[in-house]
Amino acid sequence: MPNRYLIANWKMNLPPEGVESYLANLSGADPRDVALVVAPPFPFLRQVVQCGEGTCVAAQNCSDHVSGAFTGEVSPGMIRECGADYVILGHSERRTLFSESDALVARKLALAIESGLAPVLCIGEDVRVRDTGHVAHFLADQIKAAAVDALEQVEEIVLAYEPIWAIGTGRNASGAMVAETLVGIRHAIERFWPARLAETRILYGGSVSPDNVDDLVAHGTIDGFLVGGASLDSRKFLAIHAGMR
Ligand code: PGA
Repeated sequence: MPNRYLIANWKMNLPPEGVESYLANLSGADPRDVALVVAPPFPFLRQVVQCGEGTCVAAQNCSDHVSGAFTGEVSPGMIRECGADYVILGHSERRTLFSESDALVARKLALAIESGLAPVLCIGEDVRVRDTGHVAHFLADQIKAAAVDALEQVEEIVLAYEPIWAIGTGRNASGAMVAETLVGIRHAIERFWPARLAETRILYGGSVSPDNVDDLVAHGTIDGFLVGGASLDSRKFLAIHAGMR
């Protein structure tokens, strides 16, 4: 299991510089102890697997079914066949725009693990929860809801703390705020997940950029980042990587 992760979530976008040159730029980076992961839209998974030297590949979502009459869905087994190792699950855009419940995310999580994918599970509160001071409780509930039996057999799982109010807004959580929130998340992992997952790596996501990476790493508790907007430009993504030192 890598010590730290830096994940590029392209969402439904492609890097303006082109997929191949983006990946060529990344291949020049010295990864140190940071696993570089690229999450392209489904049709580009194979290309990123084939061209991405030294980078790992993630899908951005998967079905909770193995196969069948589910038009438009992609199973974890198919993602695995494309050569991807990871799958992002429970992203707040999936939860809010596509009405994914905790229960659906849990089913996807179980099937992804059974299919041999390493899940990157996203959790995060909205601004209302943040303002009413119930963050730790809310996140603990999301972690509890993800406590599927398959966690007993998972080899690698990554948690991404992504406050919804910080995603794509340019408003990132401060390093101090993330550090404080991560204490509660660790506590919930210890409480609800198998003891063998106590060392689960916890990433932060939400408007991460080369400008705020210093403040975010300064507290020393973040195990990496899940980056959306700034990950579409390989230079910005590499600048964040450099900032992780
Ligand atoms: P952002 O997206 O960096 O554009 O805020 C992060 C994410 O949604 O994973």
